This record gives sequence, C-alpha cells and structure tokens, in this order.
Amino acid sequence: MARVLIAGASRGIGLELAKQYSANGDDVVACVRDTDAAKLLEDASLANVTIEQMDVGEPGSVEAAAKRIDGAIDIVIVVAGVTGGMKQGIDDVDIAEWHKAIDVNTIGPLMVARAFKPHLVQSGDGKFMILTSQLGASTWPMGGMYIYSTTKAAVNKVGQIIAMDWKDQPISVSLMHPGYVQTDMGGPNAEITPQESASGIRNVVAGMSKENSGHFYKWNGDIHPW
Ligand SMILES: NC(=O)c1ccc[n+]([C@@H]2O[C@H](COP(=O)([O-])OP(=O)(O)OC[C@H]3O[C@@H](n4cnc5c(N)ncnc54)[C@H](OP(=O)(O)O)[C@@H]3O)[C@@H](O)[C@H]2O)c1
Repeated sequence: MARVLIAGASRGIGLELAKQYSANGDDVVACVRDTDAAKLLEDASLANVTIEQMDVGEPGSVEAAAKRIDGAIDIVIVVAGVTGGMKQGIDDVDIAEWHKAIDVNTIGPLMVARAFKPHLVQSGDGKFMILTSQLGASTWPMGGMYIYSTTKAAVNKVGQIIAMDWKDQPISVSLMHPGYVQTDMGGPNAEITPQESASGIRNVVAGMSKENSGHFYKWNGDIHPW
C-alpha cells in the first residue's frame, strides 16, 4: 500500500483520486486550501484519509504543510488548478487574474515539488505528477484562453525541468492531461467522468518509473504531444 498526497482534493478530479486511493487501501493525505470548505471530502468519510490545509498558491502554506506532514510519501499528485476567470481574450485579458493563475498553476507545483522532495526521497521510489492541460500543448489548435493556456504551457516546462534536475534522485516525474472532465471546471458536457479520469491517472501513476521520467501523458496512458 502506498502513501499518497493529493494537492487540491476538495472537489473534482482531486476528490475522486482521494476516493479511489482510499478504496484501494492506500493512505491518503488530502490537501485543501480551505479546510472549512472541504465539505464534499469530509462528507465522503473516507478510510485512511487525513485532511491537511495547503494553498498551493502560497509558498508559505506549502512549506508549513511539508513541515507538519512527517514521513515518507510515495506519490504526490498536484491537482490544484484555476482557469483564470472569464476575461481571457486579447482585448479584455485580466492581468491580475493572470498573475494569480501563474501562482497556482505554474509556481505552485514547483513549490510543492521542492517542499515534498524529502518525503519522496524517503520513499525510495517517489512519484511526482502535475495535472496540466492539453491547452498548454503547442499543438493545441484554438486561440483565446491566454491565461489558462500559458500557465499550463509553463508548468509543462516546470515538470520537464524537475525531471532533469532530479535525474539522480529516486523520484520519477510526469505531467498529465486528465481529459476533458465533467467537473466544475470542465462542466457537465465534458467528455469523461471524474471516475474515468482518476482511474486512468492512477494507472499511469502505477507505471511511472525513472526510465519514463519527464513524460507528458493523457489520462488513458497515451503520450501527449508537447
Ligand atoms: N476538468 C477538465 O476538463 C480539465 C481539463 C484539463 C485539465 N484539467 C486540470 O485538472 C486539474 C483538476 O481540475 P478539476 O476539473 O478537478 O477542477 P475543479 O473541479 O475546478 O477543482 C479545482 C480544484 O483545485 C483546487 N484549488 C484551486 N486553487 C487552489 C489552491 N490555490 N490551493 C489548493 N487547491 C486549489 C480547488 O480547491 P477549492 O475547492 O478550494 O477551490 C479544487 O479542489 C486542474 O489542474 C485543471 O486545470 C482539468
């Protein structure tokens, strides 16, 4: 059984990952930015799950969580992400939202990687995954969405560099496009359910190794083009 930390577990794909790892008998550290607003997680009454406060957009919060949480962690999945609001066109882009989205979507995963590196090293076979998006790929064929697309493109580079910087560490790294998923972010008309997405993500995590460190995946295990 593994010890799994999920950053952004209050709803959506993160909540579903917490449910599935818990059902599998793994120990889950479910991190949420606001413990008072994690009602869905609390109501699920999951076995082997502890809830911890961690705002990935606040480096101090990430560092404090890493100090509080003792011991080895085998798997860290950074799920937390924001769209960056409604104003994302070239004529109306909201620059304040863009800065906030960089903090959460791009810098946040790097802060989590840095803070929890000792826990992953202690595992001896640590796995670190960042949920990104197909909108961050250079192959994405649509315009608009400046905030979301650029912050996800940048975190793809963050993940690739971490894999290089950690090449001699006992930690493998991956990036994951979780699919177009029926969550608050994806909306009800998205293509797949959170259950399908989380199950696919867990399969990919199970196959992560030093040999494939730095890869960018789709939820179904295919390699995603950069
Ligand atoms: N759904 C899709 O179709 C889709 C497609 C491609 C990529 N993704 C990516 O997949 C990930 C999960 O998406 P989702 O659909 O599950 O989104 P969601 O339903 O909107 O949930 C977002 C989650 O991120 C958390 N979060 C946001 N900012 C945070 C912060 N500063 N610190 C900690 N947690 C924070 C939220 O917590 P609160 O409840 O506190 O707000 C919530 O748990 C995101 O990175 C997203 O960009 C999703």
